[in-house]
Amino acid sequence: MTTRKFTLTEVSTGKTSSLDALSPSVGSDVLNIAPLAKDHGVYTFDPGFMATAACESKITYIDGDQGVLLYRGYPVEQLAAKSSFLEVSYLLIYGELPAPAQLDEFRRNITRHTMLNESLLRFYNGFHYDAHPMAQVSAVVASMAGFYHESLDIHNPRHREIFAHRIIAKMPTISAAAYKHMLGQPFVYPQNDLDYCANLLNMFFAVPCEHYQVDPVAAKALDLLLILHADHEQNASTSTVRLAGSTGTNPYAAMASGIAALWGPSHGGANEAVLQMLEEIGTADAIPKFLAKVKDKNETTKLMGFGHRVYKNFDPRAKIIRETCHQVLANLGRVDNPLFELALKLEHIALNDEYFVSRKLYPNVDFYSGIIYSALGIPRSMFTVMFAIARTAGWVAHWQEMISDPAMKIGRPRQLYTGPTARDYVDIEAR
Ligand code: CMC
Repeated sequence: MTTRKFTLTEVSTGKTSSLDALSPSVGSDVLNIAPLAKDHGVYTFDPGFMATAACESKITYIDGDQGVLLYRGYPVEQLAAKSSFLEVSYLLIYGELPAPAQLDEFRRNITRHTMLNESLLRFYNGFHYDAHPMAQVSAVVASMAGFYHESLDIHNPRHREIFAHRIIAKMPTISAAAYKHMLGQPFVYPQNDLDYCANLLNMFFAVPCEHYQVDPVAAKALDLLLILHADHEQNASTSTVRLAGSTGTNPYAAMASGIAALWGPSHGGANEAVLQMLEEIGTADAIPKFLAKVKDKNETTKLMGFGHRVYKNFDPRAKIIRETCHQVLANLGRVDNPLFELALKLEHIALNDEYFVSRKLYPNVDFYSGIIYSALGIPRSMFTVMFAIARTAGWVAHWQEMISDPAMKIGRPRQLYTGPTARDYVDIEAR
């Protein structure tokens, strides 16, 4: 393979630098700009990381033009059809699909760590019933560092592995506790004879006064959504986990910062915003008026669940969810779903509208996910929490990859400073 070389010439001095393009296993070359600061005393300026690769990674690959998403090389469509969330978590973290015995052991490890320390459970009482569950979940995850002092050495691979098992196992329990707190219902302890998603649904919906039977169709639909949300290379929350983790902070703190970043409506909060938007639009005849507002430069309204920094084609996850929606809704006995019908019409109109076509705006993963969550009985305010449960697998994998790299460096971007130059302090009486 030939390495592409670039020469940068500083016109005023004639000084040149030779820059190598690093070749990935698949995808665009990445220019190594490290010599620029040393040779020329200049930094690169790229707000929003529009053209910057912030790290090297072997975990997930996206081709945004073709609508391709691979976890460790495996197409997400194949994993969605044949795998399970726990198997995908194993794949993301360890790099290979597990052999049957490895998957059994991983499952056992996750199952054994599902309970929360009772002191942690008391934290929820400090929140008002109407506290957003993302506020509760991020706070409780950050607090976990106060409970596991014996396994917080980030340089110890076994400690890192115990952390990985703990956080993946406890995220459903932490999330269910937030939900029960919102409802004012008693917390439901995990049931270790149930699989990951069935246990999650049981903790959400069981009550002590009557028997609750998990619907296997619902558990399977949830498992699919978790697979599709499990990782997405260097998205904002994963990059946040990496940046926080690069300081050497404990992994629970790094995860909590990722959860906080996910909450925003441009990222994981979009699934909640999509349902809100559909409910506000209400009926198909209101779509043109809504889209006119979206296209109006003087308005801040966006078509939520549309557009993506990387995908300039269909988000493959959205395709899978849309195709599955019909089947899942039918299996759950919810064939007539007016919001789903409205979403389909909205998508159709937007995909034929010059504004969205010319900007290559397509539905993303969050356009349809909320419709399935709703059909499962999960309320809107919990949607982003569901995303966080799934993305925990990706965050763990990226944090592990970064920490186990001996060349890891603290993440420390530079800036283009445009503030005042040095000036003297003025006493308050003189201002
Ligand atoms: N509705 C209306 N216009 C849009 C939208 C949208 N959803 N998304 C992008 N645009 C316009 C944008 O205004 C800009 O127009 P112009 O060139 O006239 O200024 C153009 O398209 C390019 O957009 P951008 O803002 O430069 O793109 P970005 O890469 O910075 O933003 C995004 C990506 C996902 C934040 C944005 O598309 C968006 O806000 N979408 C809605 C929120 C959403 O669904 N987020 C979930 C993303 S997928 C799940 C996840 O990864 O968390």
